[in-house]
Amino acid sequence: MAELNLNVDIAPYNARQLRLANPVIVASGTFGYGDEYPHLFDRNRLGAIVCKATTLKPREGNPQPRIAETPNGMLNSIGLQNMGVEAVIREKAPQWYTWGVPVIVNIAAESIEDYAELARRLDKVPGVSGIEVNISCPNVKCGCIEFGSSPESAARVTDAVRNATTLPLIIKLTPNTSSITELARAVADAGADAISLINTLRGMRIDIKKRRPILGNHTGGLSGPAIKPVAVSMVYQVSGAVNVPVIGGGGIMNAEDALEFIMAGATAVQIGTANLVNPRAPLEVLEGLEAYARAEGLKNIREIVGIARS
Ligand SMILES: Cc1cc2nc3c(=O)[nH]c(=O)nc-3n(C[C@H](O)[C@H](O)[C@H](O)COP(=O)(O)O)c2cc1C
Repeated sequence: MAELNLNVDIAPYNARQLRLANPVIVASGTFGYGDEYPHLFDRNRLGAIVCKATTLKPREGNPQPRIAETPNGMLNSIGLQNMGVEAVIREKAPQWYTWGVPVIVNIAAESIEDYAELARRLDKVPGVSGIEVNISCPNVKCGCIEFGSSPESAARVTDAVRNATTLPLIIKLTPNTSSITELARAVADAGADAISLINTLRGMRIDIKKRRPILGNHTGGLSGPAIKPVAVSMVYQVSGAVNVPVIGGGGIMNAEDALEFIMAGATAVQIGTANLVNPRAPLEVLEGLEAYARAEGLKNIREIVGIARS
């Protein structure tokens, strides 16, 4: 049988590089710190793990309820509950250093200075292989408008983080914007090594008996299969607009879904909500991709990246 190569490089222009054994990444907020499910499957089979959002100080998160089901998806408003960067560096990174799978730290902040400070603290930490910047956060100093909603503010965050670290830098775009391609170009020009998309779409549900919003925080982020066509279309648009690798996700439940993203132009894929339904989903996606590649006689998964564009 021909040798099959599933390796992908998601930061080819960064000297520190981020080579993954395969394109299957678990998405931030849906796989904890990677240490919670050791019995379910061998985490070293994953391409990479993105840990939950990390902020400078620990955060308790939003009031309950934080989750609501929707047709073909879910709403969440966790509110970035996490242990804070110092605890991550002290308690989690030393474990990650011993694993065979790269761990990327997802960072979130309320000011550009805090994003840069997070990157500075993580820069030389053994066990941290890259940074993914969640720019779907409100800028507290500027009227609480999301950093990711305009190309200018997204570029300012990217530039500040870029100057604070040489680690591979992934900027995670929000779909809650008027032009996803302008946003992507702005962050690529400002020094992003890769772009991941999409984060959740803003949404809301009302409890009609109580006549009140269901979520404690009123609104939340919509994820799961309901958002997949939006995500595939944005990956298709962005991968045609930038030269850096695109990491695609949004509603991937199985290998067929992942293939749609890869054919739309994603070099790698992120599995999020599926982990909450079926914790073995990432492994099943990987095995499905392998089976597809062998059945199609591919030598390298890169042969089909963006093939739907040509
Ligand atoms: C419960 C939950 C928590 C999440 N937490 C984060 C987070 O901390 N940081 C982040 O960038 N994205 C977070 N996300 C977004 C996911 O990483 C992913 O981008 C999004 O859900 C779309 O993919 P999916 O439909 O496969 O879930 C979260 C999603 C869910 C469902």
